[in-house]
Amino acid sequence: MQEQIQAIRGMGDVLPPDSALWQHVEGTIRGVLLDYGYQEIRVPIVERTELFKRSIGEVTDIVEKEMYSFDDRNGMSITLRPEATAGIVRACMEHGLLRNQRQKFWSTGPMFRYEKPQKGRYRQFHQFDVEALGYSGPDIDAELIIMLARIWRLLRIEHVSLQINTLGTTESRVQYRADLTAYFRTRFDQLDEDSRRRLERNPLRILDSKNPDMQGLIADAPRLTQYLDAESEAHFNGLRALLDDAGVPYVVNPRLVRGLDYYGRTVFEWVTDRLGTQGAVCAGGRYDGLVEHLGGEPTPAIGFAIGLERLVELYALAGLGAPYRVPDVYVVAVGQAATRTAFRIAESLRDGAGALRVETNCGGGSFKSQMKRADRSGATVAVLLGEDEVASGTAVVKALRAEIEQTTVPMAGLADAIAVHLRARP
Ligand code: HAM
Repeated sequence: MQEQIQAIRGMGDVLPPDSALWQHVEGTIRGVLLDYGYQEIRVPIVERTELFKRSIGEVTDIVEKEMYSFDDRNGMSITLRPEATAGIVRACMEHGLLRNQRQKFWSTGPMFRYEKPQKGRYRQFHQFDVEALGYSGPDIDAELIIMLARIWRLLRIEHVSLQINTLGTTESRVQYRADLTAYFRTRFDQLDEDSRRRLERNPLRILDSKNPDMQGLIADAPRLTQYLDAESEAHFNGLRALLDDAGVPYVVNPRLVRGLDYYGRTVFEWVTDRLGTQGAVCAGGRYDGLVEHLGGEPTPAIGFAIGLERLVELYALAGLGAPYRVPDVYVVAVGQAATRTAFRIAESLRDGAGALRVETNCGGGSFKSQMKRADRSGATVAVLLGEDEVASGTAVVKALRAEIEQTTVPMAGLADAIAVHLRARP
């Protein structure tokens, strides 16, 4: 016997009945985005490695150690996308979608990061990504967050809370960065290895450290809020006022800096305490400098991504289930002639005014085994066809969920007979 091949570590399958939860969660999000005027954009799963390096930043965990990068057969370095923003911005620029225009886009699909797999953290995971390009805010910042609050409400997800922060403009961060570097440099011996490496190239990321030994040092570090420029402060206050008006509660977390370099001004995260250590369900922020950084015209923009594995898990924990569509009718047919008749009537029932959900028994089997399948399908009625019925142009209609006597009806009266059963359905 050959050894069976297993899935790659950190890359999971989604099986029924969980796939129904995914459908429900994704469908709900899609519906809300349509209502808010967002359109779908689909971009490739692989891009040139350079795109992610330039967008996300060289000194980030993602670029330094988590990308699935390899050379294609022509020697070009390409990377499985670790996130969607960079590809969407590239597509917008390539197709001239930002020339005197604004865009509101959503996209969904798998992302890839070579992280240490654990509950809620995978190497292939799925994001529902939303981007609004050409908007300077803070109105759009607030709208995105209010829209997310609506999504949680519709999914009846309660245990998420919102954290917001502002990173100010690049200019206001320059002075802060200098002071922060000076602060950490004088305490160099207390820094862990990661932080020492980040000190010169990206000191803000030290604030993001999860190392418990570093927390005291970080708590005493200078705070970005003390360096905020007036415009960023007004922007942030504008966002807060709109959230207050909408009744969306939030906590201002001055330590929220995010792990990607393209952010400036507004950043936010929705977190939960129900999923163990991987508590961020959705995260995003403003990236006003990215388009220009990638060679385009200056274009303000903001977006977020929902981690679908985490959101579906949270939804599953609430035990609400997913609307499961059972068939109205299961067609049982024994014998070749009956099978042919079964196919014909199943299609005509699907075409009919009732637009019935019909499952036909495929794969043969005795009358008894087919009836078992009919029962397991959850259908309300079974239509039974054997040689006798075919010969006499009739069908037997049998209730599967109620104590109703079975009846034999002429083919022409079949739809009506089924309708009587469906109307009586509890
Ligand atoms: P991110 O914070 O890297 O942001 O990821 C967003 C969300 O994706 C996280 O909050 C989490 O729910 C989920 N996620 C990230 N990594 C994993 C993983 N290894 N396993 C499971 N879930 C994960 C971004 O990706 C930005 N592109 C968001 C954005 C869009 N900002 C502006 N526009």
